[in-house]
Amino acid sequence: MMTKGNLLYEGKAKKIFLTEKDDEVIQYFKDDATAFNAQKRGTILEKGVVNNKISSTLFPYLAEAGIPSHFIQQLNDREMLTRRVKIIPVEVVVRNRATGSIVKRLGLEEGLIIDPPLIEFFYKDDSLGDPLITEDHIRLLKLATPSQLEELRRQALKINEVLQPFFQKRGMMLVDFKLEFGLWNGQIILADEISPDTCRFWDIQTGERMDKDRFRKDLGRIEETYQEVLKRVCG
Ligand code: TMP
Repeated sequence: MMTKGNLLYEGKAKKIFLTEKDDEVIQYFKDDATAFNAQKRGTILEKGVVNNKISSTLFPYLAEAGIPSHFIQQLNDREMLTRRVKIIPVEVVVRNRATGSIVKRLGLEEGLIIDPPLIEFFYKDDSLGDPLITEDHIRLLKLATPSQLEELRRQALKINEVLQPFFQKRGMMLVDFKLEFGLWNGQIILADEISPDTCRFWDIQTGERMDKDRFRKDLGRIEETYQEVLKRVCG
């Protein structure tokens, strides 16, 4: 039995609790949803359960493909046990199709195929609104060394290579996604979550949005869509 200790940190979608082991924490998934740097807030019923179960399936799947992560085990519906990492404050976004912020920023056509995939870095800082940053900015801010940055890029592209066919088999196009990494024993490992909150999926048959864009853009059928993703990934 893993006993839950004090709250270490509360983010917008998750809480992190200490455990009796210094180097392990419990990640608790909430139903709270935010968009546009928390200007829009709401609840997606059972989202925490869905995101915990999906992440608890994808992390071991990636580990088998040689991508280490913070994941140790799923504890219950809303909690997973993870290694305690020091999060690198750089959000790594991988894009296979143009949508979302890149369409607004660069005026690309919605749905444009991006091949080879594009990597973007965002500075994980809510007070600044998570701005897009360049590798030179990352060096200036000392967020990561050039070799760590290369490692982030390498792992992100490999994760894309593994996850694209995984979702394709389940009738879903992996359009784009956001990753966070942490330092653990001097190593860079994948952290945070991989879920419909942090990825965009388009149904291959219908083109329907199957992710948090349903909440961001008020597309309706939000809960049903999260359940459908869960069914396709874990069912
Ligand atoms: P973007 O098009 O808004 O930049 O989003 C790119 C990807 O990153 C998309 O899959 C959604 C995900 N994402 C997050 O996980 N957290 C965020 O705060 C934002 C803005 C995007």
